[in-house]
Amino acid sequence: MIRFEQVSKRYPDGTTAVDDLSFEVSEGELVTLVGPSGCGKTTTMMMVNRLIEPTAGRIFVGDEDIATLDPVRLRRRIGYVIQQVGLFPHRTVLDNTATVPALLGWKRGKARARAAELLDLVGLDPGTYGPRYPEQLSGGQRQRVGVARALAADPPVLLMDEPFGAVDPVVREQLQDEFLRMQAAVRKTVLLVTHDIEEAVRLGDRIAVYGQGRIEQFDTPGAVLGAPATPYVAGFVGADRGLKRLSVTEIEPDDLEQPPVARADEPAARAVERLRAEGARWTVVLDPDGALRGWAGVDELAAGGTVGDLVHRMTSWVPVGAPLKQAFGVMLQHDAGWVAVLDGARFLGVLTPAKLHEALRRSVDADARGVTRGQAGFDSVSDA
Ligand SMILES: Nc1ncnc2c1ncn2[C@@H]1O[C@H](COP(=O)(O)OP(=O)(O)OP(=O)(O)O)[C@@H](O)[C@H]1O
Ligand SMILES: [Mg+2]
Repeated sequence: MIRFEQVSKRYPDGTTAVDDLSFEVSEGELVTLVGPSGCGKTTTMMMVNRLIEPTAGRIFVGDEDIATLDPVRLRRRIGYVIQQVGLFPHRTVLDNTATVPALLGWKRGKARARAAELLDLVGLDPGTYGPRYPEQLSGGQRQRVGVARALAADPPVLLMDEPFGAVDPVVREQLQDEFLRMQAAVRKTVLLVTHDIEEAVRLGDRIAVYGQGRIEQFDTPGAVLGAPATPYVAGFVGADRGLKRLSVTEIEPDDLEQPPVARADEPAARAVERLRAEGARWTVVLDPDGALRGWAGVDELAAGGTVGDLVHRMTSWVPVGAPLKQAFGVMLQHDAGWVAVLDGARFLGVLTPAKLHEALRRSVDADARGVTRGQAGFDSVSDA
């Protein structure tokens, strides 16, 4: 969808902002550009919508060499969230959001209806916030308006330059979550600039790690964290990359341990006998359809009745496919040695600290061998 072929940008004063850049972004993919200040991220973005012209190389958007396209028509297909948001201070939030449709000559009513829809999509009630001016918004709300404005003409391509840069870490994480949910629904092809590796890892399907004017590594978050291509990348992703990896490694069914299980409708006395024979002190309790009911202590079951009469309801669990970090968080929060993993309502097994560590190793080893996430089997940890 977006393709750079040996693109360079040299300024007349001799500064090389971007040096011989080649990469490709697939349709519907979110690629994050991450690197230190001045490494060429904004330059890269602005060459895509021809606000900056390259001095060498070619850039394609949807198979068309953009040098052959009318820049104004090109920009209609590309939403742009600029660094520092850049809302017009003298226009209301609604009119700010409707800027591009208005420029495209939409009727006023249609442009404003679209703007209201977009404000809603980014979590701002158009009735409340539409009539306000940018100075009457918080930093996070302004950034949401920036995103809404970029999406207003429904462009297939979105360029976002530090879209969540100007807010505190908590609001930032919230905006990132909202954006990921929105992206799952609208599936734009996105280039997103950040200087924060955490954000790059969290949002990107793939990450381009920039050195000075060049891409040092272009790969999945797991691979960049697990197998940094150069010492520079290793330094940039930092020593705590094992922790970051918790957020990008997903829980797979093979990671789980199978604890003792009893059915809620099983007579308690029979369950006790069976569980004691297995040496179990507690059991997971399932409904007849395999849904998680809770847990019970084996000694408690001796009180009789059915297992279901004696169950402790379980209020925390994680879905399969969730990041390991989420499971780790639940264990810490409840000071528990395990957490149940569900597929919908169905109980799949439990994750323990030991299994969590194994899963982490699996993902490190897989990435070191160049296997992408999801393809790696559980067997691969046995030789670790
Ligand atoms: N008009 C210009 N003339 C000369 N050099 C320029 C010009 N515009 C940008 N540069 C230089 O090009 C390099 C890349 O700039 P760019 O704006 O792409 O960096 P960036 O990665 O977006 O940085 P930041 O994270 O600070 O936004 C910088 O060294 C910058 O000083
Ligand atoms: Mg920049």
